[in-house]
Amino acid sequence: MTQRSQWASRLGFILAASGSSIGLGNIWKFPYVAGQNGGGAFVLVYLVSILLVGIPIMMAEFLLGREGGKDAIGSFARLAGKNSPWCLVGGTSVIAAFILLSFYAVVAGWCFDYVVKSAAGTLQHASPEQISALFSDLLSSPGQMIFWQACFLMATAAIVSCGIQHGIERWSKILMPLLFLLLLYLFVHGLFSGGAGRAAQFLFSADFSLLTPQSLLAAVGHSFFTLSLGAGVMITYGSYLDRQADLFSMAIKVSALDTMVALLAGMAIFPVVFSAGLDPGAGPGLVFQTIPIVFSSAPMGWLLAVVFFLLLAFAALSSSISMLEVSVAWLVDEKQWSRFKSTTLLSLGAFLLGLPSLFSFNLWHDVTFFGSLTFFDLCDKLITSYMLPLGGMAVAVYSGWFLKRSSSQCRQSLCCAQSWIYPLWSILIRFVAPVAVAIVFIQQLGVI
Ligand code: PHE
Ligand code: NA
Repeated sequence: MTQRSQWASRLGFILAASGSSIGLGNIWKFPYVAGQNGGGAFVLVYLVSILLVGIPIMMAEFLLGREGGKDAIGSFARLAGKNSPWCLVGGTSVIAAFILLSFYAVVAGWCFDYVVKSAAGTLQHASPEQISALFSDLLSSPGQMIFWQACFLMATAAIVSCGIQHGIERWSKILMPLLFLLLLYLFVHGLFSGGAGRAAQFLFSADFSLLTPQSLLAAVGHSFFTLSLGAGVMITYGSYLDRQADLFSMAIKVSALDTMVALLAGMAIFPVVFSAGLDPGAGPGLVFQTIPIVFSSAPMGWLLAVVFFLLLAFAALSSSISMLEVSVAWLVDEKQWSRFKSTTLLSLGAFLLGLPSLFSFNLWHDVTFFGSLTFFDLCDKLITSYMLPLGGMAVAVYSGWFLKRSSSQCRQSLCCAQSWIYPLWSILIRFVAPVAVAIVFIQQLGVI
């Protein structure tokens, strides 16, 4: 058998893992979900959930991947036994990553479209109303959306087919630093745009009367989504990691970068929302309607808009490659398919599955499930609110209670540095994480 691939460096791993976690979730989704759920209280629950549930589970996923040394299903099979029911957890996470890829690519396609729109100068000197109209026009053109969705998936497939070091790692090293610089620029711009005070108040002053069980679930769900947990990604990425890496410090770095980017994005976008008199609860179109306003009157604004949407597309790309890698790794490791063949077929599959999501913005707008959810909403809700948190919870229960490793082995592999880390992780992963997710679900059931 050929040697299994590995990351070329720890930094490469951190950039790839944060490339996965930093994505549309931070820049597109976080602001609008926070907006829809009342702001501050949502943000607080989200931060607490990252700290107490997200980071321990990310460590657990890295651990399972590194100890299992294979794709998400194979790692469970190796650790728990080939016919163990735990392999189902691996299986559902592979499916989750695949469904996620299908509708993620639709939104990422919008970013590509906006790159072209801004390069062509369409967004220059447009009024906020005209900018809103441009977004609705895009949503009502299925052909255009399909074109961009396909481009995005081809780019994803091209990178994944080049493998770990030459594909995923190399591109993450280029894309992530660029993204960061640009966000910083936007953040500073937001500070001077007049709406910064209201934006900070909206994001950071918690009014708990606005916190419904629904928004609690949204906050916990989003913390899994944003850290790429419960979808086998961190298991798969962890499996390419060397034995010595300190999983605690890796998880802290990745989560800190992710959180920082989400908050920066919020502080870049909400000032514009408030100073342009837009609705913070506007939904999925929020970024596409605010950022162009920022740039429409700035000198060289068209160029900045091009760069922004390009980077948003790249952030999406570094996440989508991780989603695709989950199922590619499964075919490569378990079914001995070639990387090229797996990548091609799976991205084609994701394209087809993405079509109903895409049509739910136009042709099939009226096809709804459970009342008012379109197919896109349905996939999003299924993944974000259910599959990721449940998958993450299963990982927590397995690694806290069932993983057959002596505690000294675990201690050694999770954190070389400090002695307090392991006992704390142990408590969080055994009790706090599963119970927190369970409570949120029970609460949720109470309302339906
Ligand atoms: N974390 C990514 C984002 O914030 C989304 C993602 C979720 C990626 C799950 C992989 C797995 O955009
Ligand atoms: Na994220």
